[in-house]
Amino acid sequence: MQKIAVLTSGGDAPGMNAAIRAVVHQATVREVKVVGIKHGFDGLLRSDFVKMDLSSVDGIIQHGGTILRSARCDRFLTPEGQDQGAANLEEAGIGGLIVIGGEGTYRGGAALTNRGISVVGVPGTIDNDIPCTDATIGFDTAVNTVVDAMNKIRDTATAHERAFVVEVMGRASGHIALMAGLAGGAESILIPEIPFNLNDVCRRLKWSAERGKVHSIILVAEGVASAYAIGEEVKERTGFDTRVTVLGHLQRGGAPSAYDRILASRLGAQAVEVLLQGESQAGMSFVAGEIKAVPFSQVFSSTKEIDRSLYNLATVLAM
Ligand code: F6P
Repeated sequence: MQKIAVLTSGGDAPGMNAAIRAVVHQATVREVKVVGIKHGFDGLLRSDFVKMDLSSVDGIIQHGGTILRSARCDRFLTPEGQDQGAANLEEAGIGGLIVIGGEGTYRGGAALTNRGISVVGVPGTIDNDIPCTDATIGFDTAVNTVVDAMNKIRDTATAHERAFVVEVMGRASGHIALMAGLAGGAESILIPEIPFNLNDVCRRLKWSAERGKVHSIILVAEGVASAYAIGEEVKERTGFDTRVTVLGHLQRGGAPSAYDRILASRLGAQAVEVLLQGESQAGMSFVAGEIKAVPFSQVFSSTKEIDRSLYNLATVLAM
């Protein structure tokens, strides 16, 4: 394989730049040319290609976002769009593609493998919802961002003796809420994977208040319900002075943590090796400290479970 391409797609995640950098460095060492595809699959359809070398990735490891930009592309969901994408790669003499993103990005990549392009996925999403990998690029940074926000919210919650409902991202998953809730000491964590009873949540808040706790944070994953609706209910059922904060897209930005930079560097560099070894379709994964390649079919047929023991621990710690 003489020439490979790399793109980032879907929601950006801190550490994507570190992954792009690792792809370019590893390919350069292996004397393989690298083409960057701007604006994800949308750019692929327009052959929005840029030649990359070591200078293209100088000084980017510490930046959030993605120098290749990202996009969500409806046209690439169609068979015609996927044919066009494969044709554009072939025309440019590109034999292998590395796609950095979430499960939607993997599915886009898999569509190209059915059209003769070798594709390796690198898990990049703050949601950590890709099966077969313990961690995705950007998750650690996002969790740290949420914990930082919780620390600040707790200061003002204590000063005013208020309850806060804080909504975090995660799409249909509760990984960000669970890990940030554990690290930030949330009084309650509401995630889509585990049913909850709002009366029990309110009862626990009241019990904490009776024993003298003057602040509380209910962390809600966006996949559960609107934090505003929950805030209204909590106010009505407890009578507590309640405020709502939706953290939103600030969870996607910022400098990647050291953990995410290292994870991204390992996954990106190994993705190049996997392509050069002749793998035609796989997602990179990080399991028990090891970097591996897992067939897309296995990724798509698996689910990413919530660690219930951590949820149970969070409940004990929330008292
Ligand atoms: O997948 C990352 C993510 O930030 C999700 O947590 C969130 O639901 C979604 O993307 C938001 O997407 P957009 O930036 O398109 O609004």
